[in-house]
Amino acid sequence: MTPETLKRYAGPVPRYTSYPTAPHFSDDVGAAVYRSWLSALADNERVSLYLHIPYCDQLCWYCGCNTKATRKYEPVARYVDVLLREIERVGEVVGHKKLVADHIHFGGGSPSILVPDDILRIGAALRRLVAFAPDLEFAVEVDPRSISDDKIAAFAKTGINRVSVGVQDFTAKVQVAINRMQSFETTRDVITGFRRHGVKSVNVDLVYGLPHQTRETVARTIDQVVELGPDRVALFGYAHLPQRLTHQRLIPSQALPDMTERFAQANRAANKLVEAGYVRVGLDHFARPGDRLACGEVRRNFQGYTTDDAGILIALGASAIGRLPAGYVQNAVAVADYQRQIEAGEFATRRGHALSAEDNVRSLAIERLMCSFHFPERELKERFGDAAAPVVAEARMLLDSETDGLVEADPEGDGFRITEKGRLFVRSIASVFDSYLSQGAAQHSAGV
Ligand SMILES: C[S@@+](CC[C@H](N)C(=O)[O-])C[C@H]1O[C@@H](n2cnc3c(N)ncnc32)[C@H](O)[C@@H]1O
Ligand code: SF4
Repeated sequence: MTPETLKRYAGPVPRYTSYPTAPHFSDDVGAAVYRSWLSALADNERVSLYLHIPYCDQLCWYCGCNTKATRKYEPVARYVDVLLREIERVGEVVGHKKLVADHIHFGGGSPSILVPDDILRIGAALRRLVAFAPDLEFAVEVDPRSISDDKIAAFAKTGINRVSVGVQDFTAKVQVAINRMQSFETTRDVITGFRRHGVKSVNVDLVYGLPHQTRETVARTIDQVVELGPDRVALFGYAHLPQRLTHQRLIPSQALPDMTERFAQANRAANKLVEAGYVRVGLDHFARPGDRLACGEVRRNFQGYTTDDAGILIALGASAIGRLPAGYVQNAVAVADYQRQIEAGEFATRRGHALSAEDNVRSLAIERLMCSFHFPERELKERFGDAAAPVVAEARMLLDSETDGLVEADPEGDGFRITEKGRLFVRSIASVFDSYLSQGAAQHSAGV
């Protein structure tokens, strides 16, 4: 890959965890619309739930999540009370209809900041809202530096069966530069603790492109992670947006690897994980061959790659984004706004997007590209009929243009496929089908 080619395809593009992406939501969708979309859900509907805990003990300077650091538990306790009211409110609107959850994701921030009693209270509220499907995947994101055995026990008691542990990089120099000191031993003990409590399924998050990272530090970190034996590994490219995220200005930008080095780090990490027996899933996930993510059809949602195909995501908490058949909803981002709305007896929906017929076509095309590196011409035509025509025409134009070997016609004549060489640029290729992109590229991070 030449530096010129890299530059051409590595411009700022979204991560496509939704289409349209959140910067293109508008305030046309508010609490009243959400209420009507929720009340239209059918009896026995299969749903997924996402709960956002926007607090951490300490702020990592690279962090792009919606969170804030707190030394006191008081704001977290108040937030939990409000979150419980929001869960109850969803139950009131859904009424007597039964909802069945087959995926629940506790994200943040760091849900590991919660005290055991609050973990159990949230678990009990969720069981009042939904029936847990027998094969429910119930995951929690954990900062290994903020967890203890009694918290692990409480998570296990609520039914959590998958833990996602943040690591990023084990190298001291990198950890100092990102304000996240975390030893291998702490991480190992937390994973062992979860396994001892019956939470067997483990994911580890890693990031490349951080200050002072090199191919060698990334490779060493992967060796250590492989020793921990996670079922899944997520490998994210560092998204550096200091204009928007002021704490990222504390990152020494002169120590950030350039585009060529980022690309090399991503490749080295991926090759090492594959050599260690992991299967590549989508752009940035790796799973053991027996894991659900490596076997079934993969989907993409706000948590990244998932086996969740429920289609309905009920989002709870500040900034949380949900998806209903009619469109997306997002809660107020600021905790104070979120709390005020819920305490006033309303939903905290601030923005959203009602999906048009064209959005649905583009959304599926982009999701399939992100998940299976395939533009599924036949499926789009079968599902959407004439509405698919303009998007299919765009795909043909792309194939006819100079794409440096990143895409090739499907051998069976069904659209096109992204080549091995093109995989890392999947976001840039998907962005060809994004009709909103020109209205806000500055919000997005580098395409590699
Ligand atoms: C909510 S955190 C995970 C749980 C916990 N808070 C922790 O950090 O251990 C989500 C993950 O997003 C990734 N992440 C956060 N900020 C990022 C950024 N600016 N660019 C790329 N990945 C980022 C990190 O891998 C992090 O582990
Ligand atoms: S990476 Fe995790 S622990 Fe660090 S600030 Fe972000 S959410 Fe908190």
